Amino acid sequence: MAVPRENKTVKVPDKIPYHIAIIMDGNGRWAKKRLMPRTMGHRAGMAALKRVVKACVKFNIPILTVYAFSTENWKRPGEEVDYLMKLLVEFVNKELAELHEQNIRINVLGDYLQLPFECQMAIKKALHLTAGNSGMIFNIALNYGARLEIIKAVREIGRLVKEGKISPEDIDERLFADFLFTRGMPDPDLVIRTAGEMRVSNFLLWQIAYSEIWITDKLWPDFTEEDLLKAIDDYSRRERRFGGLIIKEKGEENA
Ligand code: FPP
Repeated sequence: MAVPRENKTVKVPDKIPYHIAIIMDGNGRWAKKRLMPRTMGHRAGMAALKRVVKACVKFNIPILTVYAFSTENWKRPGEEVDYLMKLLVEFVNKELAELHEQNIRINVLGDYLQLPFECQMAIKKALHLTAGNSGMIFNIALNYGARLEIIKAVREIGRLVKEGKISPEDIDERLFADFLFTRGMPDPDLVIRTAGEMRVSNFLLWQIAYSEIWITDKLWPDFTEEDLLKAIDDYSRRERRFGGLIIKEKGEENA
């Protein structure tokens, strides 16, 4: 992929990830440290998200995926869930015009039709307005769970087999991936997780099979453009083998 390497203010590494996926963790801890309610952590998390979207556009990242609300997040206190839903509507109302101006295409991963009505309306507006944009794809995972996504794909494929439209032998990785929310998109190259937790939390389980993982102790509301650049820089130095070997030139040492 050809991307401009030089940026006005920062030097962007040569090898940049095509698709970055982020687990935005630590909003609650950020608020707790400041003796604030958890909801304030989510509000600060929204500000961090705005920064990171801008930074990804600036660094020419073609796809950004963020984990905003998981299928498991419904277990949180009703008050917190309600606040997150309100924040989503606020995010769309305040940011949509600018996201559209930046030629960003918004996409939702997950069953958003189970969200409150106002959220569904806000999402539909965002999807509709940005559908024709050709810039960065901004995937927001909402009411998303990777296991459910996989089960949904299996059900749909099973139905096609039952109807005789495909045979079991037709099922391969490519066909399977077409039944996921990320249909048509390359898998994430880099997964970033904030707040130091070493787990994937039911996020894109199929798609991150060979992704590079970058974890920082920074809490999500504190995450900046500079942190993103650090993650990209670290990624650019990694050697990806996808289960194979790097064949060295004659005379080079094999590591
Ligand atoms: C995890 O932090 C974060 C979430 C469950 C929500 C992420 C939401 C945002 C960043 C808000 C803005 C986004 C939109 C589009 C609504 P946590 O609460 O689990 O933190 P903790 O582990 O420290 O408790």
